[in-house]
Amino acid sequence: MSRIGTTDWVMDRCDDLTRHSARPDALERVYLSPEHAAANIAVRAWMLDAGLDTETDAAGNLWGRRAADGTPQRPGTAGEPALVLGSHLDTVPDAGRYDGMLGVVLAIAVAHRLRDTVLPFALEVVGFSDEEGTRFGKALLGSCAASGQWDEAWWDQADADGVTLRDAFEKFGLAPDRVGDAARDPADLVGYLEAHIEQGPVLEAEDLPLAYVTSIAGARRFVLTVTGEARHAGGTPFARRRDALVAAAHLVTRIEELAIAAGCLATVGELHVEPGAVNVIPGRAELTLDLRGRTDAGRDALWEQIAAAGRDIADLRGVEFEHTETHEAPSTACSARLSQAVATGITQATTASSDPLGLWSPAGHDGMAMAAVTDVGMLFLRCRDGISHHPDEHVDPADVAVALDAYTAAVLALAEEAS
Ligand code: GLV
Ligand code: MN
Ligand code: MN
Repeated sequence: MSRIGTTDWVMDRCDDLTRHSARPDALERVYLSPEHAAANIAVRAWMLDAGLDTETDAAGNLWGRRAADGTPQRPGTAGEPALVLGSHLDTVPDAGRYDGMLGVVLAIAVAHRLRDTVLPFALEVVGFSDEEGTRFGKALLGSCAASGQWDEAWWDQADADGVTLRDAFEKFGLAPDRVGDAARDPADLVGYLEAHIEQGPVLEAEDLPLAYVTSIAGARRFVLTVTGEARHAGGTPFARRRDALVAAAHLVTRIEELAIAAGCLATVGELHVEPGAVNVIPGRAELTLDLRGRTDAGRDALWEQIAAAGRDIADLRGVEFEHTETHEAPSTACSARLSQAVATGITQATTASSDPLGLWSPAGHDGMAMAAVTDVGMLFLRCRDGISHHPDEHVDPADVAVALDAYTAAVLALAEEAS
């Protein structure tokens, strides 16, 4: 049995969490599921071992807290403003074991390392309940509740089985009309500091274990619909066809070309074709589009080009093109104060002679929501081959060891600045 707070303990706990999955052959843990409840129970025990008192909030987020003097303290009770460390406990389907979970477990390990250290602020650890948006299609539900940004319009959103968010809340034992209780008061927060795997290839290419994050890109998401005409696959000559899938296919390749030229990221992740029969020309194609960019302006300009391309292709092929925006988030700047603390932590924990690397994050994180109520900062860890949202996600224990030192040193740097 590994000792709490060590690198082995961190690696072992990430392994443990794979047991709480909806599928025996793959990791999938979505918001308000039985696996979510089981993961909260497991993580709560580790928080208690690390000297934190715990509480699950009105949106299913799990919190641990100690007072400035190190005494365990019930989250939600009055006390000193807190520095919050953490990440999320939910996953995408067929997930890796580090996206989110590593950040929660590292935060608990840091809290354990500092359990006898008096700080000028309270220390909290959070396991956010929903960052990925896998179940209800809306990302950051947990951190939106914690940052007071819950939107009443979300209640009727349903999962793939038709279960609404409201029903899922009740089934989980949460009261929908109490969700506002999860909102944190900015006056009670010193900042939110998250450790996360990079989910990209830069650190590996630079031969570095860690980076601090400068900003988190905001995504825009759309459903694109191409409507043509379903007709007989044998009886309809090409000149008479209005094939929705062929038009959609042209659009998909055009989206990639435009995104590369714009230096942004664009992904068509889902494609549904109707009526979906081998001998029927597709009459309708529905695509999802996820757009990200280093700047919101660059990303928005790309969208205008994609929308124009959709209209042009539709004109050329005699089909109709429509779009609905399903998600829009602005990019989030990490605070200079927290980024400086993370950079100091990296410098202290590593032997590199050069300044720590700062990276922008094309992946979304809970800090995007938490920035509404407090300063946010992030520490990135190298992951093998940059792969994430895949079971092959991998971090080297040696990098986790350095990250533990850097994360702890970053908290101490913030403590020194605050005292
Ligand atoms: C979350 O992982 C996202 O960036 O979509
Ligand atoms: Mn993710
Ligand atoms: Mn994540």
